[in-house]
Amino acid sequence: MNEALSITHRIAVTLFFLIYVIKTVLLLSNRADLLQKFTKSTKVIEMIVSALFLITGVWLMMQLPHISTMLWVKIVLVLSSIPIAIVGFKKSNKILAAFSLLLITASYGLAEVQKKKREKGNVVAESNVNGQELYTTKCANCHGSDGKLGFSNAADLSKTSISTDSIKQVILKGRNTMVPVDLTEEQAAAVTAYVESELKGK
Ligand code: HEC
Repeated sequence: MNEALSITHRIAVTLFFLIYVIKTVLLLSNRADLLQKFTKSTKVIEMIVSALFLITGVWLMMQLPHISTMLWVKIVLVLSSIPIAIVGFKKSNKILAAFSLLLITASYGLAEVQKKKREKGNVVAESNVNGQELYTTKCANCHGSDGKLGFSNAADLSKTSISTDSIKQVILKGRNTMVPVDLTEEQAAAVTAYVESELKGK
């Protein structure tokens, strides 16, 4: 449900933005007749798109546990751009129209930046989970779930003092009686992070 809502929201926002850009470009390039035609022929679409944009936006917002400052900034930018745009287009005022497009663009940009940040956060969270899982399946039989088992002379990982890079190297290349563990570079990094944050010094 939320997934569908957020996709609808994104499509509506993109269409809304597109219509807006085209209208502003037409106004700024003195194509009054074309602008009028375009406005007329997209009137219904624009109404549907704006309504969808606002309804899905408000709906999504109500599901959030708390509204971040970024989101408030976004909302204020969008809401203030609308009356400016209405006046701008009605009076064919280029400065107002361009200014309102700038506000919308800024809020669109903010949304994208936030999305990137969220995605990055998810990757980190995922790699932490992966690290624990990988450790349990690939390392715990010798090192034990707390790193202290010492099976066949495995080093005590709670007492390890070697660097992040060295831990990764030991995992990937092996050392003395520890044979290399078959992991990708990324998986090794995830396990290393797990060893450092959850086992080392505990
Ligand atoms: C088959 C048993 C075995 C498995 C499986 C194994 N290790 Fe080891 N590990 C060892 C042994 C034995 C040593 C000691 C090597 C030495 O004497 O140089 C060691 C050493 C290490 C060291 C060096 C610690 C230090 O302070 O020098 C690290 C780090 C390490 N293992 C991490 C891991 C991780 C992470 C995994 C899983 C991805 C893993 N090991 C899987 C047996 C194992």
